Amino acid sequence: MKAVEVTRFGDPSVLTLVDLPDPLPGPGQVAIDVTHAAVGLIDVYLRQGLYKDQEGLAQPPYVPGLEVAGTVRAVGEGVTRFTVGEKVAVLPGNGTGGYASVFISDQDRVVSTEDYDIDPALAAAAVPNAIMAHIALTKAADLAAGESVLVHGALGAFASAFPGIARQLGASRIVGTVRTARLGPAAATRLPYDDIIDSDNLPDALGGEKFDVIIDPVGGTVRTQSLDLLAPSGRLLLVGNASGDWDHTIPSNAMWYGNTVVAGFNAGGYVPAHPETIPPAARAALKAAASGLLQPEIELLPLAEAATAHARLENHTVNGRIVLVP
Ligand SMILES: NC(=O)c1ccc[n+]([C@@H]2O[C@H](COP(=O)([O-])OP(=O)(O)OC[C@H]3O[C@@H](n4cnc5c(N)ncnc54)[C@H](OP(=O)(O)O)[C@@H]3O)[C@@H](O)[C@H]2O)c1
Repeated sequence: MKAVEVTRFGDPSVLTLVDLPDPLPGPGQVAIDVTHAAVGLIDVYLRQGLYKDQEGLAQPPYVPGLEVAGTVRAVGEGVTRFTVGEKVAVLPGNGTGGYASVFISDQDRVVSTEDYDIDPALAAAAVPNAIMAHIALTKAADLAAGESVLVHGALGAFASAFPGIARQLGASRIVGTVRTARLGPAAATRLPYDDIIDSDNLPDALGGEKFDVIIDPVGGTVRTQSLDLLAPSGRLLLVGNASGDWDHTIPSNAMWYGNTVVAGFNAGGYVPAHPETIPPAARAALKAAASGLLQPEIELLPLAEAATAHARLENHTVNGRIVLVP
């Protein structure tokens, strides 16, 4: 099969196109002919070696990528839910294997898209993140119908799954924040935000508006500012650190002063511990995708241009998602 390997930790140039033997599915596994593989910031962090000392995470040489869509190529022993040729998307596993023409996944993480009218590029770009967004909003942020939601880094890969799922769950108002430079692309977005405001001009840009739930994949300054943007009993859900501000801390006293909750959600740890959350979240995500609630801007690139995709993410020149085509 065709694949891209991280040959060693380093800059995007370590991503190398290679030929590897076609992998076969083991018991309980599904082999997928990949048509689309999305590129996320986590792929960049892993390639940089940011998590190199964490147990169980990939060491070079490895094939990066964790969000794919395609068709079932073969099934392993004991797999009865999928048939060869069926259209599927895959929920992220251990962060490897996606940038390839064949992908192996445990069957529990494979979601059939067959009954839904979903472009496979969108299935890779939005469905896995929307499954995670549904789990985050229902299990970690306890979003109730009628509540308001603020999403930071509103056009980003993970962030862009939240407005559609929040809308589906009955949120009353959904606002996104982007930096000043992103206000142009934000004006053209098809994501279902009621408003998108300038995060460089917080809190003034919100004119005193407060939110029941805030989703923060960005961290740094907007994380601290968010404490003052929560309504009483509001929940700030930390889901990432796209700002790269790893040393940032937030003042804990502000939480009890404000009767607020600050929680964290990491699908990589949560989903394996709570596999029962996948089927309802997958149904919600597929319905959201089919009904137009998930429409990030998608740019397709050939698999061989994975290094360009990583460099673009690092340079902040992506307005939505880059999806690789093997
Ligand atoms: N918790 C989970 O289960 C989970 C799942 C997926 C991803 N994540 C995490 O979520 C984060 C985002 O990942 P992604 O793949 O969505 O990345 P992405 O597509 O690059 O999106 C990041 C977004 O954050 C914005 N941003 C970056 N620095 C910023 C700053 N200093 N101030 C304001 N906005 C800023 C970016 O805007 P600009 O382009 O303008 O910089 C972009 O819109 C990562 O930390 C990733 O590890 C977590």
